[in-house]
Parts: sequence; structure tokens; C-alpha cells
Amino acid sequence: MPEHAPCRLGVLVSGSGTNLQAIIDRIESGEINAEIACVISNKADAYALTRAAQHGIPAIVHENSRYPERRSYDAATVELLRSHKVDLVILAGFMRIVTDVMVNAFPHAIMNIHPALLPSFPGLHAQQQALDYGVRFSGCTVHFVDCGTDTGPIILQTVVSVEQNDTEETLSARIQSAEHHTFAAAIKLFTEGKIQVHGRKVLILN
Ligand code: GRF
Repeated sequence: MPEHAPCRLGVLVSGSGTNLQAIIDRIESGEINAEIACVISNKADAYALTRAAQHGIPAIVHENSRYPERRSYDAATVELLRSHKVDLVILAGFMRIVTDVMVNAFPHAIMNIHPALLPSFPGLHAQQQALDYGVRFSGCTVHFVDCGTDTGPIILQTVVSVEQNDTEETLSARIQSAEHHTFAAAIKLFTEGKIQVHGRKVLILN
């Protein structure tokens, strides 16, 4: 038995799941000492569910349309996560804003990835927002989730250059490959107990 049991991750998704795949790959290679306890999707047709099933990970469809409002949906999500004994919740392309019900159930233990350098360009279509603004650099941000939209304490960021001929698609692709290693790095730090949160500031321990 290892000295520390692997950290148990609950991954929430809505779509393709390339970030989920990057996490799976790094767990399987031994780079991250974690286990994905469950993948939960609010969309029945999310390809991320297929990726989870292909790796023997419990893949759960949990549609928000069945719930009258956000907080009752989140309460049911918390129950699912608790029943799988999840330590850290990963929002990997989960296209829903979470409420205080989720945030209070997992204090400083919910991570999100956003395809821009926060606090610039929060919300939807961050890559197009960056192109429209004309910035020379954008990137991705991994942050803890609070009750705002993309406002929680920042854990890691990676800078990506914006090229003159970029379209939303080309910039998104460049940012996405940065996302995969940035998200994995943040999860690894968490599993190693190297993250401390002091108000808005996140301290990374050596
Ligand atoms: C990523 O671009 C992430 O920044 C955003 O949603 C996208 C998810 O992509 N929150 P994938 O499903 O991991 O491929």
C-alpha cells in the first residue's frame, strides 16, 4: 500500500473531454497520484462519457433539465460526488455556473479551467473576446471555484501568443494544448498537498 491513498477526483464535464483525457493519461502514466472516482456529465451525448467508459471510469449522466433550479441540481451533484468519496472536484469543460451549494460542500477543492488569462475575458467565448480586444497574448487559467463567474483564487496560468491571422478556432486549439498540461500540473500540486489558499492568493509550496 502506498503511504498516501490516491486523491479521488470527481470530474464534471459537458462536452468533448480533451482535458479529461489529458488527466486520465497522466494518471495512467503515474505522473499524478490520483484516481478518477467518477465522471459526471450534464449532457447525455458528451463524448467525455465515452472517454471515461473506455478507461473503466464510472460515467454518470446527470441532466440539469430534470431539476427545477440550479441549487437543487447542485445538491444532487454533491450527493453523487460524496457517494463516490471525492476529494477534489474538477470542472473540465462543465458549462454550468455552480452555486453556493457546491462551493460550500467542497471548500477550496473545486478547480476550473478557463481559456483566457483571468481576470481578462471571463464567461463564454473567451477566445473570441481576446481576438476582438486585440491582445497579443492570451492563455489559460486554473482557479479554485467560488460563487462568481471565473472569479476564484488563481492557481496556475499559462501564456499563449495571439497571432495576427488567428481565428477563434486556431487560437482555441493553441490554448487548449496549454490547458492540458496546466490543468494536470495544478491537480498534481493539489494531490501532493502543495497548495495553500490565503484569501485571494494561492501559495504554491516547494
Ligand atoms: C476548454 O476550453 C475549457 O477551457 C473550457 O471548456 C473547454 C473544454 O474542453 N472551460 P474539453 O471538453 O476538455 O475538450
